[in-house]
Amino acid sequence: MILFNEQNKVFTIHTANSTYQMKVSQHGHLLHLYYGKRIVDEDVSYLIPNVVRSHESNPAEAGVDRVYSLCAYPQEFSGNDAGDYRIPSIEVVNADGSYAFVGKYRSHKIYSGKYRLSSLPTLYASNEENAETLEMILKDEVTHAEVKLLYGVFYEKDIITRAAVFCNHSEGDIHLERLMSANVDFMTGDFDMIGFFGHHYLERQTDRRHLSHGINEIGSFRGVSGHFHNPFAILCDRNTNEDTGNAYGFALMYSGNFVFDAEVDGYSQTRIAMGIHPKQFDFLVRKGECFEAPEVVMAYSDKGLSKLSHSYHDVFRQNACESRFVRSERPVLINSWEPFGFSFDSEQLIKTAEISKELGVDMFVLDDGWFGARDNAKAGLGDWVANEKKLPGGIPALAEKIHSMGMKFGLWFEPEMINEDSDLYRAHPDWCLRVPGRDPARSRHQLCLDLSRPDVCEYLIEAVNKILDDGSVDYVKWDYNRYVCDVYSSYYPPERQGEIYHRYILGLYRIMDGIIKTHPDILFEGCSGGGGRFDGGMLVYFPQIWCSDNTDAPDRLTIQYGTSFMYPVSTMGAHVSVCPNKRTKRTVSFKTRAVTAMHGTFGYELDPAKMSEEERKECAEYSAFYRKHQKLIMSGDYYRLSSPYDDSIFTAWQFVSKDGTESLVCVVTEDILINDKNSYVCLRGLEENAFYRIEETGQVLSGAALTNIGLLLPHSQPQYSAFVFYLTRIEATVVSR
Ligand code: GLA
Repeated sequence: MILFNEQNKVFTIHTANSTYQMKVSQHGHLLHLYYGKRIVDEDVSYLIPNVVRSHESNPAEAGVDRVYSLCAYPQEFSGNDAGDYRIPSIEVVNADGSYAFVGKYRSHKIYSGKYRLSSLPTLYASNEENAETLEMILKDEVTHAEVKLLYGVFYEKDIITRAAVFCNHSEGDIHLERLMSANVDFMTGDFDMIGFFGHHYLERQTDRRHLSHGINEIGSFRGVSGHFHNPFAILCDRNTNEDTGNAYGFALMYSGNFVFDAEVDGYSQTRIAMGIHPKQFDFLVRKGECFEAPEVVMAYSDKGLSKLSHSYHDVFRQNACESRFVRSERPVLINSWEPFGFSFDSEQLIKTAEISKELGVDMFVLDDGWFGARDNAKAGLGDWVANEKKLPGGIPALAEKIHSMGMKFGLWFEPEMINEDSDLYRAHPDWCLRVPGRDPARSRHQLCLDLSRPDVCEYLIEAVNKILDDGSVDYVKWDYNRYVCDVYSSYYPPERQGEIYHRYILGLYRIMDGIIKTHPDILFEGCSGGGGRFDGGMLVYFPQIWCSDNTDAPDRLTIQYGTSFMYPVSTMGAHVSVCPNKRTKRTVSFKTRAVTAMHGTFGYELDPAKMSEEERKECAEYSAFYRKHQKLIMSGDYYRLSSPYDDSIFTAWQFVSKDGTESLVCVVTEDILINDKNSYVCLRGLEENAFYRIEETGQVLSGAALTNIGLLLPHSQPQYSAFVFYLTRIEATVVSR
């Protein structure tokens, strides 16, 4: 619900449980007043103290008023070089060489439905959805350049999206050197910040810290959202936990360089700014042109972190990706990478598919190594033509065999990359990013194709579509295995080189539109050296993303735990692999690996021909178990019952169906359950005055007992044991006996 009070010039956005308020000041600046728990007040500008902040600048239009200061007042969009010394929302170099931009309110529009951006992925709202948009124009009165602030409101989900569009209506060209997508100034609050850091093989580890005075920053300058820091952060009260306290989420719908800043100033006010990383960003916006900054998805919860996650899970399940696969059952798959790497032949692949079929697997995925001269990582990338020595008859012949078994067939691509040892490189050495006169850095022996070039994008769309167009492929794993550097494109003049990082991402979205959106019957899964590009922008294209190359179950507990704060379980690719695990050398039971992999889109990365009879039996059982509970896992409310980082000797999570009738509880112990200590898992999301039947134990217990006392775990179990409990609610039962 978006309201505008004409008299006070106050904009109020309400969602079911939150309120966001802004006010146009007497001098035309747009002040941010409030974001938090829903309130009825029409104007909370009383929060701004009537005090002279000595030494702060006062804009000329304030005359002798020494109170009015852009730095002491909370801003909705902070200008530049006009006396707000905190992180600016914008930095420009105007045609006359000046740096100033001061946006003042000019006009606004409120309409039902959700805005979209023309060049970047955004959330969408269906016609039935209660979504609204506020567009507000801020104008610099001297240059006439404008910024359009966009607000999208998903009322029931407590989600407000933000984006900004800069339009150069000045008389000359303007260099845009920074444009934040969102700025939020909190006048009150003493916050913790939760970020998600990591590296290849250990993505999205949870990091909670108290904000210190100064700038607290996370970001990526790797050309990609990356393994190191996820473009998602939470701000919360110091005592916020899973169930209580204020929590705010900020997620960027962008897959390239990003920054999230939380600046605590000298008055202990907190400014949040999120957007494209300004380093090496210099976009020339010519007279009459516009530039779009990516969308930020903000969520607020007054009931702790679980509720915040539920808002994100719901909106990312329903409003991000338009693929029909988002809402359909996902196939249980087997992937060739971990068992075979680059060395395989058709016969071996067919045999693997045959055995897998008996184990309840729906789809065989051929990973890296099927194309060009790709016998190792040194050659072939760019040559998207099947290697007939390994695969006589090419992809159609193999796909036909797999299909004739009643299975689906999937294929791996890494479209954005090129090996120097490839026909593509020999034909177009200028098609990769490279700084003139410098030998570029290699990573995994590969270079990045220059996706800022339209001809490269067109080539990739055509080359990949050539394989996909005949209908042999049911699933694509879209990989991306290095970071970007040597960022220079021979296609653009020197003064436009500051645009290349962003133009690369625009090119990427262009090829994804040209490949993914033109193949609605193919399920696409994102990947980047595991989970190195797990972000909101990618989720507009991919219903699921491979969570990590680390398939060791205990490590996966922390990876999946961190990922779950924003991303729904339905988006996380998770597979069972062999033990000892190839990376960590750890051995855990098949059950533990399977239960951990059921925290996502389930599958296998192993050679079933090498499995024992016992393992094959287990494999078939877990494929069936997953299929039976997939709907609940994919669409239920998800609860983190314990953290893999706390003192608890187990990590547990729970799914509760939206109608409350069923629930699945999964537990992995991280210590030995010894004889002298009882371990109870307290459940959540249940009705306290209902009874639940637990399939595995035959017990019938009340929601109150399960929530407040908990389930008793069996004694004397080795470290890394796993348990699942399936609960069904018994209708018409009363607790007060
Ligand atoms: C990346 C992926 C793996 C696999 C390899 C193939 O590392 O994350 O799953 O596809 O590439 O080269």
